[in-house]
Amino acid sequence: MTVDNPDQGWTGHSGVVPAVVTKVAPSSANAIALVCGPPIMVKYTIPALKDLGFTPQQIITSLEMRMKCGIGKCGRCNIGTKYVCIDGPVFSVAELERLPQEF
Ligand code: FES
Repeated sequence: MTVDNPDQGWTGHSGVVPAVVTKVAPSSANAIALVCGPPIMVKYTIPALKDLGFTPQQIITSLEMRMKCGIGKCGRCNIGTKYVCIDGPVFSVAELERLPQEF
């Protein structure tokens, strides 16, 4: 858990998630990392986890921000052949790396 601007009395971490992940350095052994939140945070947290030894299969994220109708009708969420609203919205990074780089 981290905050951007700690107030007096906060004893936890402060700073952006990728930096805190790097600082805390969780072990990738027998672990899964679940990453969801603002797209910019997800974008920079995934490489931080990879630097710690997490494989693309061990990193799970959500692309629900791409969804519009959510029921497979509007066609606004597709990445290649995948529809985020039907095939996801939760994917491993390994799955995403096999798709066109649109996320
Ligand atoms: S959100 Fe409309 S098709 Fe997926």
